[in-house]
Amino acid sequence: MTTKKEIVMSGIRPTGFLHLGNYFGAIQNYVRMQDDYDCYFMVADLHSLTTHPDTKALKANVHRVLAENIACGLDPEKVALYCQSHIHETGELYLYLNMLAYKGELEKTATFKEKVRMHPENINAGLLTYPVLQTADILLHRAKYVPVGKDQEQHLEMARNFANRFNHRYGFVFPEPQAFNFNNELIKVPGLDGGGKMSKSENQMATLYLADDDETITKKVMKAKTDSGPVEKNTPKPDYIGNIFLLMKLVSDETVINKYEAEYNACTIRYGEMKKQLAVDMIKFISPIREKVNTILADEKYLENIMQLGAGKARKSAVATMQVAREAMRLNYTETPF
Ligand code: TRP
Repeated sequence: MTTKKEIVMSGIRPTGFLHLGNYFGAIQNYVRMQDDYDCYFMVADLHSLTTHPDTKALKANVHRVLAENIACGLDPEKVALYCQSHIHETGELYLYLNMLAYKGELEKTATFKEKVRMHPENINAGLLTYPVLQTADILLHRAKYVPVGKDQEQHLEMARNFANRFNHRYGFVFPEPQAFNFNNELIKVPGLDGGGKMSKSENQMATLYLADDDETITKKVMKAKTDSGPVEKNTPKPDYIGNIFLLMKLVSDETVINKYEAEYNACTIRYGEMKKQLAVDMIKFISPIREKVNTILADEKYLENIMQLGAGKARKSAVATMQVAREAMRLNYTETPF
């Protein structure tokens, strides 16, 4: 007997270029899960409509996310890699779940409050019910694990609440989804400005994108904040120096890292030289991915086939779930189904 694999689902919004934080925070986890789990990875194009109603660039943005995920090692033959808008059952489940979501709890969501602050001119109902749509994405496949970053924890908690409310009212259909990280390690990918983390939209100079060319990578790395170096042996590193070491740990060989650690502790470190090395190693890491993305993007036919393949797999699972959900809700009360 073959044991059924556990189901994993996650989504990524097509609203910007992927960066090193997305790679180490999300995509690397996806790639590591693809052999051992039944994976559904989705481009959340409908979610992007809550903040980006202009759809002129939607197709190009979706293509880019797909190409970037594949270039990073995701295999569309192994996983279901698909677009949210291709799965019409999502809208149906979203509607049912909306009846189980309270206005008060939606208004209290941190991401909603943040978006209200950022875009007071477009506080639409889709924005308010964003976590409900996300729950529909997850529950459509009755997924157990959702690999996401820390910023999505509240949405996952809401997804569990909505799933439990549904089960309680209509009978058990949906397992409780939970956030997933390997060994609970959340990899932090700091920005190059000594401040926060890498981000899709904020401070482009502090963020390394998978699409950056070699020259841009070098320029950004060389601009990272440093100082004249430690004056006392074995002193703790200031944050902005610690960040450069953290970035080095992601892409450089251990011998290289050990060399600079030793030099730091001996107060002989030269940050200019260290950053040059980091730039070289970053380029070695990013440039093959960038080239691969460009090759994939040039092949529209391939991308079209990938989307068809993914939609087929995702729809199969969604159709099966919705049949169970409608039955639980007694919505199939006619003699002959329509
Ligand atoms: N809200 C997620 C984000 O902003 C994207 C997303 C949409 C998602 N649907 C999902 C994540 C389902 C996990 C599961 O990154």
